Amino acid sequence: MQRSILGLGVALALLFPAVESRADCKVPPSLNQCKTCHSLEPGKPSRATGPSLHGVVGQPAMHAGDFKGYSEAIKAAQGKGLTWTDDNLFNYLADPKTFLAGINGQPLKNAMMFQLKDETKRKAAIEGLKTIAACQ
Ligand code: HEC
Repeated sequence: MQRSILGLGVALALLFPAVESRADCKVPPSLNQCKTCHSLEPGKPSRATGPSLHGVVGQPAMHAGDFKGYSEAIKAAQGKGLTWTDDNLFNYLADPKTFLAGINGQPLKNAMMFQLKDETKRKAAIEGLKTIAACQ
C-alpha cells in the first residue's frame, strides 16, 4: 500500500513538474504594491513603468537590460558601484530619491515615485524578492 502511494507521488511529480514550479512562483503578497510598476516573474520583460525585479537582490543597480527608463540618479549610482544588498534595498525602498542622493553626493533626477516607510513591510518585500528569485 505504502509503496503504491509513493509510486503514485513519483509518477505525478514526473507528469506535472511544470505545474509544480509555477505554483511556487506566485508573487508573494508582500510585493503586491510593486506590481503596479514592476514585473516580477521569471522570464517576463520589464514594463514601461519599471524594470523587472526578478533576481535583483545581490545584483548591481540597473540589472534589467531591457528597461529603457533608468534615471540619471540610478545611472550615476551604478557608476559608483551600487549593488542591491539587503541593506541598500531596505534604505532605497524607504526613500529612493534621498538614498540615491546620498550615494551620488548630490540630488539627481530619480524615477521611482514610491516609498515604503513601514520597516516590517520593507523587510517582507525584500524576502519576497528572494523568494521569487528562487523560481526559474
Ligand atoms: C510607481 C511605480 C513604482 C512602484 C509602485 C515601485 N517601483 Fe521600484 N522602480 C520604479 C522605477 C520607475 C524604477 C527605476 C528607478 C530609476 O531609474 O531611478 C524602479 C527601480 C527599482 C529598483 C532598482 C532596480 C534596478 O534594476 O536597479 C528596485 C530594487 C525597486 N524598484 C524595488 C521596488 C519594490 C520592492 C517595490 C515594491 C515594494 C517597488 N519598487 C515599487 C517604479 C516603481
